[in-house]
Amino acid sequence: MTWVNTLTGPNTTTFQMPTIQVQPVGFALGARVTGVDLSKMLTSDEVQQIKAAWTKHLVLVFPGQQLDPATLTAFTTHFGELDNYDSQPFNRHPEHDHVMLLSNKPVNGKLPAGAYNGQNWHTDLSYTVRPAKATMVYCIEKPSVGGDTMFANMYAAYEALSPKMREFLDDLEAVNDVSLISARRDPAILEAFKRLNPPVVHPAVRIHPESGKPALYVNDRVRTFVGMSDLESKPIIKFLCEHSVQPRFVYRHRWEVRDLVLWDNRCLTHLAVGDYDPKEIRHMIRTSTMGDHYGRLENPQAAEASLKAAAATSQEVAAGVSALHD
Ligand code: OGA
Ligand code: MN
Repeated sequence: MTWVNTLTGPNTTTFQMPTIQVQPVGFALGARVTGVDLSKMLTSDEVQQIKAAWTKHLVLVFPGQQLDPATLTAFTTHFGELDNYDSQPFNRHPEHDHVMLLSNKPVNGKLPAGAYNGQNWHTDLSYTVRPAKATMVYCIEKPSVGGDTMFANMYAAYEALSPKMREFLDDLEAVNDVSLISARRDPAILEAFKRLNPPVVHPAVRIHPESGKPALYVNDRVRTFVGMSDLESKPIIKFLCEHSVQPRFVYRHRWEVRDLVLWDNRCLTHLAVGDYDPKEIRHMIRTSTMGDHYGRLENPQAAEASLKAAAATSQEVAAGVSALHD
C-alpha cells in the first residue's frame, strides 16, 4: 500500500506504510509472515490478511514474536473456539488450561507429559469427535540441533491420487485411534489417553470449509476403515501414509527461538522430529482451536465404559503428570 502526501500533491512524497509481508518458504506449503506484532491487538484488516495467507499456505511462520501464554491465547481466539485440552488434562500448562506444554524441561522435577508429543504423522486431536482446526506453537527454547517439525499438504496428496482411488476414498470412513500416537510415551500416560479418548470415526476425505477443496484425512493414527476388515484396510492405510508424506508434499520447519508457527489441521499432517539431544531443552507452548463436529464414536457402548473408567481415575488424571510419573 502506498500513501500519497495530499498536502504537497502527488509524486512529491511517497511513504511505504508498514504492511504484512507473506513470503513462501516451501513449494508444497508454508510461508513466513513479517510486519506484524502478534502480542498487540490486531486490526480486522490484519486478521483478514493473516487468514487469507493461512488458507493459501496452510502453515504460517511468524519469526521474532514476543509472546506469553496470555498473548498466545488472545491471538488464537481469532481462529476459533479455544480447545481446553479435556482430551489430555495431564498435558496442560500448570497455570493455563488452554495452553499445552510441549517441553522436556522438568516441572517440579518431573518430565512433562507432552515431552514427546507428535512424533508420528498426524493431525491434531483426530482422536476426538471435534478435531483441531488451528494449532499454534511458540518456541521458547530449542536444542542446538534437531527438533524440527515437518508438515505435509493433504490437498496435494489427495490430488495426486488416481481418479479411481479418489472415488473409493470419497465414500470411506476411517477409525482414528489414540493408541496409535507415537510409541515414545510413558505407558501410564498412554493408558490415560486411551481411557479419555475412545476411538472415533472420521471421513477419509474432508472438504475444507474455507477453501472448498478436498483433503486426505488419513495418517499414522488411523487403525482401520469402516466396513472393511483390518486385513483389507492395513495395506491401503500404509500406502496412503507413505504416499502423503513424500518430500514433494512436505515443508520442514527448522525452529528459531521466538517463532510462532500456525497450521491448519484440516488439510495437513505433521510430525515432530525427535532427533535431538534429550539433555538439551526443547520448550514450546501450544494452543488449538476446535474444528467442526466431524466425528462419531466407533463404539458408543465401549466408549461409555471407557469414559466411566476415566472418571473413576479423574483424581489421578487431574493430579496430572506428577501422579502419572510417581
Ligand atoms: C503436537 C505436535 C509438534 C512439535 O504437539 O501435536 O505435533 O514439533 N508438536 O512439537
Ligand atoms: Mn501435532
